[in-house]
Formats: sequence, structure tokens, C-alpha cells
Amino acid sequence: MKLAICPDATAARTVAARVIARQIRKNPASVLGLATGRTMEAIYRLLARDHAENNLDFAGVTTFNLDEYVGLPGTHNQSYRYYMQTHLFDHVNVTPAKTHVPDGAATDPDAEAHAYDTSIAASGGIDLQLLGLGENGHIGFNEPLSALTSRTRVVTLDRATLEQNAGMFGGNPEKVPARALTMGTGTILEARETLLVVTGAAKAGILARVVEGPLSALVPGSALQLHAHCLLVLDEAAASAL
Ligand code: GLP
Repeated sequence: MKLAICPDATAARTVAARVIARQIRKNPASVLGLATGRTMEAIYRLLARDHAENNLDFAGVTTFNLDEYVGLPGTHNQSYRYYMQTHLFDHVNVTPAKTHVPDGAATDPDAEAHAYDTSIAASGGIDLQLLGLGENGHIGFNEPLSALTSRTRVVTLDRATLEQNAGMFGGNPEKVPARALTMGTGTILEARETLLVVTGAAKAGILARVVEGPLSALVPGSALQLHAHCLLVLDEAAASAL
């Protein structure tokens, strides 16, 4: 693991956006793995600005998002497809058919998960996977006790995750969908490079377990210790327990 510790969250987001932009400029046909969550919003804003001001070109880029809530169609304003459209895709020149988010409204979610995993492999695999960290140590929606070799599948969300994400559902954890489709930890580890972005003191304790703790299915993010090309971009608050 390589760590870049930035003075504050703004600097961390700037570094993360630069890493992604550099990948796109190096290979305009890059396959990117993308993430959602509050941490990513400013990163996508910076990429959209880079597109507007410096012609950062997304036309040849293929994207695969990590996860989606089961039961939410892409038109639902809390779906991750909707998040990606409003935070990034609508502001840059992506080729719509090259953007992939698991279909939360699929009639057979298990088949959707399998097909999604297969289409990642068929694309040639992910060049750079962007990741956030849940307060319980999850990456994507791989909750504690997810197998480190897991593939894209349907999972039941942890109580902690329902509470962490309740803010987007009127503050009520009961309103957060109980299940999600997520790339597996094993799927994530196949990306050629991984970029984990963590900011804020609330994640300092779990981040220390990801980086310095034993490799454990109890802390899914610790699986990144196995990844040969993993960059962590942190602010000082998130890094404060290292
Ligand atoms: C959700 C996503 C995760 C993301 C996490 C962190 O649970 N499924 O992929 O890492 O949120 O979110 P935030 O950046 O809002 O803390």
C-alpha cells in the first residue's frame, strides 16, 4: 500500500481527481471502476471541471460502478445510477453505452450480478478502481464477514450501513433498501490499480484497521493489503490513528 496523506479533505480530493485524470489521459480507452458516497462528490466535480476547462475526454472510457441498491431503478433519486448521472455522467462526454451500474431493478438480481461480473472480465478488466470506505470497513457493499474471494453478488446490508446511509433516505434506516448488488472483494482485487480515498476523523479508527490491522474478513478493506498497486489518498484527520 502507498499512502498519500494530504493536509485536508479538499487536498485529498484534488489528488484523487488528478490520479483518475492522469489515467484517462494516459489511456483514453481506460476501464474505470467507480464508487459513490459523499466522499466522491467533490472528486467528480473536479473531473467535470477538468473536462470543461481542459477537454478531459471521457468518450472512450468504460466505467463499472461498484454497487447498487436492489429494488431501486436507475430513475430513483437515491439509486447509484442516478447519483452517477447527476454527479458525473451528465457533465462530461461519456458514451452512455460504456457506463455500467448494476441494475437494481433486475427481475433476477443473482443473474444480474453474475452477468455484471462477466462483463467486467469481457471488457478486459478494470485499469483503475476508485474506492471509498464504509465506517464498518466495507468496500463497495462488501460488509464485514464477506469472503475475501467473493464475486459480484447480492448482499444483505449491515445495520451500520443502513444507519450510515439513512441521511439520503430522510434519516430513516428502515427506508434504506436492505439488499444491494456489489462487486465482490475478489472482483475488486482483480483491478490493475486501486485508489482508496478516505477523509474525516470518523473513519480514522477503521482506516487504521484497514492499513495496520491483520488481514481479516471482519474488515473487508484490509483485503487491499493483498493488492500490489493500491494507493490510499487520505486527509490528516483520517490518518490520525495510524
Ligand atoms: C456507500 C457505498 C460505498 C462507499 C460508502 C462511503 O456505502 N456503497 O462504496 O464507500 O458509501 O460513503 P461516504 O463517502 O458517504 O462516507
